[in-house]
Amino acid sequence: MVGGLFGRLQRRLKGGGLLSRRGRSTHPGQQLQRDSKTRPCGRSHRTSARLATYDPSVPPVDPFAPCELGPVQLSNRILKAATFEGMSPKNVVSPQLIDFHRRMAAGGVAMTTVSYIAVSRDGMGAPAEIYVHEEAADGLGAIVTAVHGEGAAIAAQLGHAGAVGELPHKRAVGPSKGRTITGARVAAISTGGIDEVVAQFAAGARMLRDAGFDAVELHFGHHYLVSSFLSPRWNKRRDEYGGTVANRARLAVRILREVGDAVAGQMAVTAKLNMVDGVHGGLGIAESIEFARIFEHVGVLDAIELTAGGSRANQMYMFRGDAPRKEFEEVLPSSQRLAFRALAPVLFRRYPFEEAYFLPMARRFRQQLSLPVILLGGINTLASINQAMAEGFGFVAMGRALLREPDLIARMRDGSADQGTCTHCNKCMVSIYSGTRCVLDHPEPLTF
Ligand SMILES: Cc1cc2nc3c(=O)[nH]c(=O)nc-3n(C[C@H](O)[C@H](O)[C@H](O)COP(=O)(O)O)c2cc1C
Ligand code: SF4
Repeated sequence: MVGGLFGRLQRRLKGGGLLSRRGRSTHPGQQLQRDSKTRPCGRSHRTSARLATYDPSVPPVDPFAPCELGPVQLSNRILKAATFEGMSPKNVVSPQLIDFHRRMAAGGVAMTTVSYIAVSRDGMGAPAEIYVHEEAADGLGAIVTAVHGEGAAIAAQLGHAGAVGELPHKRAVGPSKGRTITGARVAAISTGGIDEVVAQFAAGARMLRDAGFDAVELHFGHHYLVSSFLSPRWNKRRDEYGGTVANRARLAVRILREVGDAVAGQMAVTAKLNMVDGVHGGLGIAESIEFARIFEHVGVLDAIELTAGGSRANQMYMFRGDAPRKEFEEVLPSSQRLAFRALAPVLFRRYPFEEAYFLPMARRFRQQLSLPVILLGGINTLASINQAMAEGFGFVAMGRALLREPDLIARMRDGSADQGTCTHCNKCMVSIYSGTRCVLDHPEPLTF
């Protein structure tokens, strides 16, 4: 996520000790209990069950009742949103990453999301990230076993960071040539390169399926590669991948088709899409709704998660709350601090936190789609979860509230909590370089 200048932190923040590799589990194939209360969470191209169309005369569904996400049985409708963990210094699953997701699973979410898995080394957005390669397979199997053992499902976010994340080994690419916010060169990806990326997404999805994952979340947001293709700000191509909405959607559609073929209904497929880029000349909501409808039409997605903003230019747009400028400055080498101070007002603009801040925009998508929509962004209270259900959203996804309190959902379910205690200070953003955590409760860096 946090890319640009801060990718350089990799040189300062070395990975630490040798990871212990766990043996590959046999795929647990754990089936979550399907019972008479299980309800499909909306239309699926596979089940073609019932439309998710919102009917105000129908009583809202219980967020804690079992339901389906495409072919997957879920114990409730609350998902752990991807929050990059920074726990893979060797680019494979670490014991710390397994513990992180085991805690989320034990805490009551229906499905946790491993974030972020790059489709290739060039697709990485930050240090200590997993990328798709053979050595990653065993650890992916182990994390699935751990999460299934707690009775939850597990997804992984799969993406190509494009121009986000300046890492020493990586070639930054985008739809068109340009510069990152720190002035580094971005090369225009060739059509051959596009073919390669499409194949890499399919290979990544196959790897996740073989490891026993229940779902793959395709990252189409946050100014990453696919998001940049959708964006009129960054996509200036004159070939069949640029210009019209249909052309700019072409890369995403190809990925959806290839991933759909690769997983062949054996796991759920979701996408995380920008509603707006939050930058001048970027993707706006009307075009984004068109994209969402095109993706729905492809017939591969089981749900769509809506986000906004991104790491190439305006990341606070997606978070809201305090802008952790001082904390970022503190972890930078002193030689970069002056430059950072000049860029900080652009990189870390201030957007005040509001509960469920993406709801007004997301509502417009929900009204236009029959695909289940996952509401994300500032969900901190049971009231917001219930409101999302009442408005016909299929699921909610929660990030920071669960970073702070992994057991929040279990406590909401048993009636002992109705809201989280996350203060939206956003200091956890900086912790991605030392093992992502709520630093208010766990100030010390993780050791690897
Ligand atoms: C520390 C941290 C890391 C994040 N990493 C990712 C990521 O890798 N991929 C992604 O799509 N979103 C990432 N996000 C954004 C969250 O998924 C979510 O969109 C955002 O935090 C807003 O939801 P919330 O208010 O429930 O936290 C991250 C958020 C945080 C706080
Ligand atoms: S550091 Fe903790 S309290 Fe602050 S935003 Fe992150 S999870 Fe919430």
